[in-house]
Amino acid sequence: MQKFIPQEFVNKQVSEIRKAVGSERALIAVSGGVDSTTCAVLTHRALGGDLLCVMLDDAFMRTREPERVSEILSRPPLMLPITILRVQERFLKAQKGLSDAEEKRRAFRETFYQTLSEFAEREGCPYLVQGTIQADIVETVGGIKTQHNVLSQTGISPTEYYGFQIIEPLSTLYKEQVRRVARSLGVPSEISERQPFPGPGLLVRVVGEVKLDKLESVKVATDAAEKILAEHKPKQYFVAIIDNTETPEHPRVSRVRETTARVLSIPAERISVKVFRNNATGIKGGERHYGEIVAVKAQMANGSTYQPPIDRLVALQTEILRANPSLTRVFYAVHEKRSSQPYVMVMRAIETHDFLTAKVSRIPWKTLEKTAQKILQACSNVSSVYYDVTPKPPATIEME
Ligand code: XMP
Repeated sequence: MQKFIPQEFVNKQVSEIRKAVGSERALIAVSGGVDSTTCAVLTHRALGGDLLCVMLDDAFMRTREPERVSEILSRPPLMLPITILRVQERFLKAQKGLSDAEEKRRAFRETFYQTLSEFAEREGCPYLVQGTIQADIVETVGGIKTQHNVLSQTGISPTEYYGFQIIEPLSTLYKEQVRRVARSLGVPSEISERQPFPGPGLLVRVVGEVKLDKLESVKVATDAAEKILAEHKPKQYFVAIIDNTETPEHPRVSRVRETTARVLSIPAERISVKVFRNNATGIKGGERHYGEIVAVKAQMANGSTYQPPIDRLVALQTEILRANPSLTRVFYAVHEKRSSQPYVMVMRAIETHDFLTAKVSRIPWKTLEKTAQKILQACSNVSSVYYDVTPKPPATIEME
């Protein structure tokens, strides 16, 4: 394999972008993630003032993220010309009534490109540059999940549908290579080393239908969880919110209880099992598997939650999923309120090299508990907080 030299890559892409765009103008949407930022900096080097950068305040960014990111990108050393487009209502409206993960992702993609198409037309930009990377294309073309920034590879013509041509300078790169390019371009480390954040943002962490109070709680919990979990430096860490609605008398509950009792050596009557109505995304035999989520809790004789090593819970997860093919993820209880509330929250922390496979991080129980307590204090509509003990595969990193 040829050695990857970031500086050579930059020089080659700068010259190719100039050749492709000529004397026209180009538009790029930046989110503050390493991919779109690196792509914008590279393209700005090629086109200077002929590049327009927009940040979509689409309702699914974290607290004050549009403002914080645009501040970083528009000041030295990057000096990118950023315009924030306030389009929250439009993105929320497009999600109304949708709960299937792929329908939500496709609706997001459509609103994303429609919004950019209108802006590009108004500003006279025949080119859209985007930071799509190799993993986005692999997962979309492989049918695992629809990434919002993959179009022509799935047979959708950008020119026909949205009126612009798309340029993807990073499409052959993997995440670590993008970080190397970012460093070589002088992108500040708060961006180049930032953990990934999906293009559709918190949309894929509000599992099932988007409701305003659900979205608000995931934002508040994200603020708390990111701060605490960061201490352990997992490769990626976040929270997601799920409807606290169970499938009544689910036929697998007693089998999951027996498996848990056997693997954890806890009497079955001290184990509670819940299968949620909301589904989550996973991978089975290399293919997409959109399946059920099961939450498990084992109690000690004194009533407190049993806290075995995380590796044991991962081993339990393997056995549960092997015996119950409709399930795709296993959550284990960390903390709960006495009263039942409309939502539950899950913490996810993973270790990975390429984001194509991932292991569950061994976050200490103390940290999991501290995070869960903060979340329960801050979110009155959440009754339980879990830890996701499912690697990728069989789950994906994000919930949807
Ligand atoms: P999954 O969930 O597919 O995630 O195992 C792999 C990596 O990609 C990120 N991710 C996305 N990034 N648009 C993005 O820009 C998306 O739609 C998307 N979905 C997942 C995810 O956060 C992880 O780092």
